[in-house]
Amino acid sequence: MVLRGKNVIVAISGSIAAYKSAILVRQLIKSGARVRVVMSESSKDFVSPLTLSTLSKYPVYSDFNSNKETGEWINHVELGLWADAMVVAPATANTLSKMRSGESDNFLIAAYLSARCPVFFAPAMDLDMYNHQSTRENIDWLVANGNIFIAPGNGELASGLVGEGRMAEPEEIVSSLERFFQRNLPLSGKKVLITAGPTREKIDPVRFISNRSTGKMGFALAEEALRKGAQVTVVCGPNSIVNSDSIERINVVSAQEMFDQVWAKYSWADVVIMTAAVADYRPASISDQKIKKTGGPLEIKFVRTVDILGELGKSKQKQLLIGFAVESENELENAKSKLKRKNLDLIVLNSLNDSGAAFEGDTNKVSIIDKNNKIEHKQLKSKVEVAADIIDKIVTLL
Ligand code: CTP
Repeated sequence: MVLRGKNVIVAISGSIAAYKSAILVRQLIKSGARVRVVMSESSKDFVSPLTLSTLSKYPVYSDFNSNKETGEWINHVELGLWADAMVVAPATANTLSKMRSGESDNFLIAAYLSARCPVFFAPAMDLDMYNHQSTRENIDWLVANGNIFIAPGNGELASGLVGEGRMAEPEEIVSSLERFFQRNLPLSGKKVLITAGPTREKIDPVRFISNRSTGKMGFALAEEALRKGAQVTVVCGPNSIVNSDSIERINVVSAQEMFDQVWAKYSWADVVIMTAAVADYRPASISDQKIKKTGGPLEIKFVRTVDILGELGKSKQKQLLIGFAVESENELENAKSKLKRKNLDLIVLNSLNDSGAAFEGDTNKVSIIDKNNKIEHKQLKSKVEVAADIIDKIVTLL
């Protein structure tokens, strides 16, 4: 997930472990990254550039000239700037030494020196080379200067010796990159609880009262919070949305069930976003039997449900509380009064007078109001874009 859309340079130097780099390229692409491969001349003895260009769907770079006749030049500076991450794997003792000294007599080191992005390196060499003082000092220096070390494994080496020096497996290298980007996301370590969709209040075994909410806004927020690194739980009423596996989803039906689940998770959460359209009333009693029609009108008595957000506001501690308000008149005044009454940090207002806003559609037009009554009026946008605006606002508040 976190590597989706990231530009990654895989730089391969000359070690037998170079064959694993083909698997690394494949796995990075499967994780959603765009990959460009840089090879040292000697690495081509271990793995073919054709394999890597086929896997990465891009020419492999190893020379400053792509065409010696015409003098066509490969721009290592542009490549370095393009990258969000560079992985030197395998990194031989020779390449580690050149990375430290800056001896850029090959394209790989020139690209390394031009990269402004985080650089990961996965050493691969024989036991004694790995344990040599010069290698150790180069590794320490590279780490002290911001490069990210992916430790080699212990085991049988190509020489037959047993010990440290075997390049980390491609899965471990991908995980290192994922952990790095995960840690550096704006909502890393934050726990976000979101409610979504309608609630249904039973009338009899076949009937219920509900509303037009689809859950789209809530799940758009959940996916955006996830993309920004949060741990996300959604408590949702009946809806047909398919969400990412990484989101914990708790399905409920009634307002009371929603309250019970949200309450149980409240102390876990750093942020609570209540997008659910919770029923304000439920039938005073649920008929055990299907209600039969009669000649006259049907009267059902309704009683209030619990105000979930109101209860959360009363016992708020560390949490940021975000409410939604759907209004058809005196929109701003009503939203501001809910913000205060429910002890919220933000309220997101939808006006039923704006076309393309609120229920069912894929778009929304919102105003975001904070505790100091500062109002941001947003344009009509897709719910995904609206979710990004709201999550950005939450990030600034955190
Ligand atoms: N909400 C809630 N529990 C309820 C009703 C609403 O948690 N029983 C939450 C909604 O999820 C929303 C916010 O409160 O985030 C505002 O809901 P709304 O129904 O518009 O506000 P009310 O306070 O119920 O006011 P009114 O019905 O008078 O508009």
